[in-house]
Amino acid sequence: MKEQLLKLEERALEEIAAIDDPPELEKFRIKYLGKKGQLTSMMKSVGGLPSDERPKIGKLANLVKINLSKRFQEAKESLFSGKVGRDGFIDVTLPGREPVFGHLHPITLVIKEVCEIFSRMGFRVVKGPNVELDYYNFEALNIPKDHPARDMQDTFYISDNVVLRTHTSPIQVRVMESRQPPVSIIAPGKVYRRDSDVSHTPMFHQVEGLLVDKDVSFGDLKGTLTSFVRQMFGSDTRLRFRPSFFPFTEPSAEVDILCVLCGGKGCRTCSHTGWLEILGSGMVDPEVYRFVDYDADIYSGFAFGMGIERIAMLKYGIDDIQLFFKNDMRFLRQF
Ligand code: FA5
Ligand code: MG
Repeated sequence: MKEQLLKLEERALEEIAAIDDPPELEKFRIKYLGKKGQLTSMMKSVGGLPSDERPKIGKLANLVKINLSKRFQEAKESLFSGKVGRDGFIDVTLPGREPVFGHLHPITLVIKEVCEIFSRMGFRVVKGPNVELDYYNFEALNIPKDHPARDMQDTFYISDNVVLRTHTSPIQVRVMESRQPPVSIIAPGKVYRRDSDVSHTPMFHQVEGLLVDKDVSFGDLKGTLTSFVRQMFGSDTRLRFRPSFFPFTEPSAEVDILCVLCGGKGCRTCSHTGWLEILGSGMVDPEVYRFVDYDADIYSGFAFGMGIERIAMLKYGIDDIQLFFKNDMRFLRQF
């Protein structure tokens, strides 16, 4: 066994002298010094030797191990320091490499800002699932199967009863189902529709808002949304409430703000109307309260749903919604 140990040591020292890259060195370590390495196995078998040989061989095995470990450490240090400059020197006059910093996507920035504004007004931020039951996306929002209002939103169906949510409004139902008034929440998230042009993409973001309590009026809705628009776009921003229809609100209004790209003169972004729709809103229809067991004689409330891309386009003066999703660094770096 003594000869075996010495031979192993000789072989290992020869091998390590020829190693010139880190993966080879690691292979060497595993081969000799690893848990199942050759030296380790020999050391394990020392216990089986006759008792008069054991101490001598054990001592020798230890010395071999110490020697090989030392050579391994030395080889490791020289390999890694040698990597700094190939020719063995470091050129300290070279300029440093500046680290590249990442930052938040403009859509994320706008969602954050919207949530902050409403949080300051006392709304709590909640979330809901992207893959949604037909029941929450349509049925409980007073949009039964075969209702013409389903055509307002071209839907991606997963199965007969499961859809990619077409708006964040199903979160209203989930919240009301889980607790009694007063509630005041906002809910940001992705929504999906079969829709694509300069102001539409098949996936976009909405923030939903819902407030239900005693004595909530349309005046509260107007005040809340006007305050929001002024905080978001500046105190002299022009906006208008335009009568509209949603099956889950009555009365309903859409809010437009003056197109910041053309100043109201008309351009392709605002379809030459001078105005850009940023959100839909209205007083929660009593029909919806029936689905969630709220007493419509006691409570009233308002809801709204806004398109984040629209708001981002207006805020930053961007004329093509597709830019948000192309991941072009020249565009994204500007935020
Ligand atoms: C809705 O989605 C309603 N759920 C809003 C609502 C909520 C009304 C609560 C009443 C009460 P609408 O389909 O109009 O409504 O979409 C709301 C906003 O999302 C629009 O004003 C617009 O800003 C944005 N939007 C709609 N479709 C797209 C699209 N394909 N791409 C980008 N933004 C869109
Ligand atoms: Mg609309």
